[in-house]
Amino acid sequence: MKSTHYIYIIGLLWGLVSCDSGDILEKVYTVDEKGYTVKVTAQVSGLGEWEGTGNTVAVAGFTADSKYAILQKALPSSTEDGLPLSIVLSNLSSELQTVELVLTNSLRKRIITLATINMNDYRDNSARDTIRLDLGRIDVGRFGVLQTGLFDRACIQCHGASGRSAAGLNLTEGNAEAALVNVPSSRKEGYLRVESGNAEGSLLHLILNEGGENLLSHNHTEILSSQFKSNLEEVSGLIDSWIENLP
Ligand code: HEC
Repeated sequence: MKSTHYIYIIGLLWGLVSCDSGDILEKVYTVDEKGYTVKVTAQVSGLGEWEGTGNTVAVAGFTADSKYAILQKALPSSTEDGLPLSIVLSNLSSELQTVELVLTNSLRKRIITLATINMNDYRDNSARDTIRLDLGRIDVGRFGVLQTGLFDRACIQCHGASGRSAAGLNLTEGNAEAALVNVPSSRKEGYLRVESGNAEGSLLHLILNEGGENLLSHNHTEILSSQFKSNLEEVSGLIDSWIENLP
């Protein structure tokens, strides 16, 4: 028994492990051989809205500072709304920085992130237990990705549901679309917050893009560029294509 422990410690120190010396050693062997496993579960809706666009909603792994997914597993776009989905990525390299539920383009470039697992939080997960993320119900359609990836992340701290919502604009889930689309601006006369089918004429587009810094008393261009450093262009493009596709 004593010598078994001794070998075990040596095994840990040197990564030298033999498989035939009892349970503990086998465990160590497993640790050395296996990468991380991530399991994301969710009941998604809106997946079909991306069909034929070249964009994909996927669970994907990114290394530090990379805009492109190293690997990704697409959520099948034929999935019926509300059906429980479970996506597993296994044998993941320890070089991955994040595993994300993300909208990517045809080159697997990140467009917008919907949920993130920071792999650094699991470095001491020496048993390599499966890392689980349950997202519950999530709308990943054209507007859903903006709600979760943009408004929830960068806007609702000021444009919340309370009476103190900035400019009287409520961007929380279930309220944002109605508060934006074809609603006159409370700040800039003659503008709609969002004008269906006309991105460039919409106040939302103007205040978030270059040149819009001083349109309001609060610099919204800066809010966007500070929140989306690696995918600013993609996020602006996503907002514009949502507006252009509004009926
Ligand atoms: C730090 C607080 C803050 C954050 C964060 C913020 N806003 Fe604002 N927003 C304001 C304020 C304040 C105003 C009113 C500015 C004015 O009166 O000139 C405003 C005004 C607006 C307006 C104009 C409303 C109207 O009726 O004309 C829009 C549209 C808007 N914000 C969208 C957004 C979006 C989208 C985000 C997230 C990307 C965001 N805001 C993040 C503070 C914020």
